[in-house]
Amino acid sequence: MPITVLSKVSETRMHLSARRQEKPRNVVLVPTMGALHEGHAQLIRQARELAGDEGTVVVSIFVNPTQFGPNEDLDRYPRSLDRDSEVCQDCGADLIFAPGSADMYAPDHSFDARETGLSMGLCGASRSGHFPGVCLVVLKLFNIVHPTHAVFGKKDYQQLAVIRRLVRDLNVPVEIVGGETVREEDGLAMSSRNANLTDAERRDAPGIQEALQAGRARWEKLPDIAPGLLIRLVRSRLEQISSGEIDYLELVDGETLHSVHGVIEKPVVMATAMFFSKARLIDNIEFGPKAQTG
Ligand code: PAJ
Repeated sequence: MPITVLSKVSETRMHLSARRQEKPRNVVLVPTMGALHEGHAQLIRQARELAGDEGTVVVSIFVNPTQFGPNEDLDRYPRSLDRDSEVCQDCGADLIFAPGSADMYAPDHSFDARETGLSMGLCGASRSGHFPGVCLVVLKLFNIVHPTHAVFGKKDYQQLAVIRRLVRDLNVPVEIVGGETVREEDGLAMSSRNANLTDAERRDAPGIQEALQAGRARWEKLPDIAPGLLIRLVRSRLEQISSGEIDYLELVDGETLHSVHGVIEKPVVMATAMFFSKARLIDNIEFGPKAQTG
């Protein structure tokens, strides 16, 4: 039987409330913007595990206009609902919620969901409206689906941290679960934006993760190394990627996302974003005492 695809908020609410009465189990949500790849697929499989046989896995597919800046790639963002439905079905999802913009936003919608701490640095510094848009849509999705759990990828490490904060600060009754980053064989983090790379950029792009791994390896050898030195090492590796330009490279506390100064004593994340001609790619690596280094 083909997977159920719903686009209307009211239908989705009714469908889920009927399912809940039948099977009062976990409802696990995987929010996406579609153009699904193996990274998304892995999150959906993780959601299936969390939901168990009796629970419900909902994948939302919505290219959310409020999180794109005026000069960003909203119009170019790939849309492929038929293929995405197959991926969802193969990974064991029960329902796709795929609204149109008009289903999600009234023409005169006027609410904002601004987080004022974690979202200010890293990607938030160069994309000012991005996290308010992400928080708004995720909050709306939580209110529509009422999930018990929601799965977000660590590839967007800051997004995961901001959503955890949203749930904590606004008392949203949902458990946030992180999923590991899925990579191409050469180490490039999977992203729908990889398709916008030229051949030369695609050849260079695995250098991003290589540079971050070189940083982690240096810390493993010299755990007392100053963060500034680590950053300098990784920055010089990233600068060798001639087809790209660094947007930011930072070493931050894995929880607070504050810059790290002094000896690394807690789990940290080294995160970067790089501009290529038609794509901006992000990646990160976790390390430090007690961090899982895979
Ligand atoms: P999107 O970019 O489609 O990503 C959906 C989810 O997939 C996010 O949680 C993201 O972190 C995760 N993801 C992306 N690439 C991944 C990879 N290579 N490995 C593992 N997980 C990966 O993130 C968004 O959409 C939007 O901001 C959204 C949360 C849906 C709000 O609109």
